[in-house]
Amino acid sequence: MSKQILILPGDGIGPEIMAEAVKVLELANDKYQLDFQLSYDELGGAAVDKYGVPLADETLERARAADAILLGAVGGPKWDTIDPAIRPERGLLKIRSQLGLFGNLRPALLYPQLAEASSLKPEIVAGLDILIVRELTGGIYFGQPRESKVLDSGERMAFDTLPYSESEIRRIAKVGFDMARVRGKKLCSVDKANVLASSQLWRAVVEEVGKDYPDVALSHMYVDNAAMQLVRAPKQFDVIVTDNMFGDILSDEASMLTGSIGMLPSASLDSNNKGMYEPCHGSAPDIAGQGIANPLATILSVSMMLRYSFNQSVAADAIEQAVSNVLDLGLRTGDIWSEGCQKTDTRAMGDAVVAALA
Ligand code: NAD
Ligand code: IPM
Ligand code: MN
Repeated sequence: MSKQILILPGDGIGPEIMAEAVKVLELANDKYQLDFQLSYDELGGAAVDKYGVPLADETLERARAADAILLGAVGGPKWDTIDPAIRPERGLLKIRSQLGLFGNLRPALLYPQLAEASSLKPEIVAGLDILIVRELTGGIYFGQPRESKVLDSGERMAFDTLPYSESEIRRIAKVGFDMARVRGKKLCSVDKANVLASSQLWRAVVEEVGKDYPDVALSHMYVDNAAMQLVRAPKQFDVIVTDNMFGDILSDEASMLTGSIGMLPSASLDSNNKGMYEPCHGSAPDIAGQGIANPLATILSVSMMLRYSFNQSVAADAIEQAVSNVLDLGLRTGDIWSEGCQKTDTRAMGDAVVAALA
């Protein structure tokens, strides 16, 4: 039976990078006889414009019915001042939460060809291969109560809540340990247990889960130190497991070690490996419409989709190899350009990956 892939290009550079990723996906579909059927819908600002909400019920139903979802990026200045309840980002949070996509895998892998594009010295990043496992449907992003109000004094105040239950921590910890087990067998759990109650529970539960993984070396690190260690000596890390907000921040930080946020793909998985695949970056309003965004994070997200949702590791490997071959040719979008390389644009980069895959 054919597999249904729902494509959500989103906003800003979303449609530009998605056009290239779809070319790669369609070629892989033909070449490896994957029997995928692609359909399209809107999420984020584009959905606000079309449906009046950032995630329409019918879109959510299509996403539920799909075997996998590929997302570009959402958000932009056009919608920054609308009612916060229908901001584009709310649509993204809702689809993650409604589909139970709690396990977010963000691999920060340095292609050796991009050592010069990294913001760190080549010797510090050479061979870098980190996987950040970010909890994606809990914590401060979703905690209740949350409120903005005006106090009797007339002063405005607002607050958020950072809750984690034992079961939420346990299931993401397992993802972290399972990933570490098939990689370098090292798991670093990042928290703020010296201050936060939720982090104290986090640390205790991760320790307990670790008892079932005697083959994985578990360590704990405070998030402030982790942010520093990531730029001091990033290769000490194999798998990092952390909460929703810390994972958001640390993955953007880690992306620069690989040359650019435009290189970081992600997989957001439920407990059955149904997934939504998306670059870690946003809609990049500052370069949207110029055709210069790096499509590789989205193309590599296609590779993750083939690997995690469809067990097509041969096709997934081939896409990664095609990306590597294109980098060998010296083609670079502006974000990963360095001396001696050829500057190219979004479409030419996508075409080059297609040619390499063909
Ligand atoms: P951003 O990731 O969109 O951009 C940060 C910087 O990185 C910008 O200078 C941008 O030009 C650059 N950049 C990002 N992706 C790039 C690419 N593929 N190629 C080249 N350069 C790239 O983050 P931001 O500016 O903080 O946020 C912009 C909007 O995107 C906001 O509305 C935000 O909420 C949204 N956002 C969405 C997602 C998502 O949909 N998953 C993720 C992050 C931010
Ligand atoms: C990401 C983004 C989102 C997040 C925003 C747009 C809600 O930054 O996917 O990393 O914080 O999760
Ligand atoms: Mn982010």
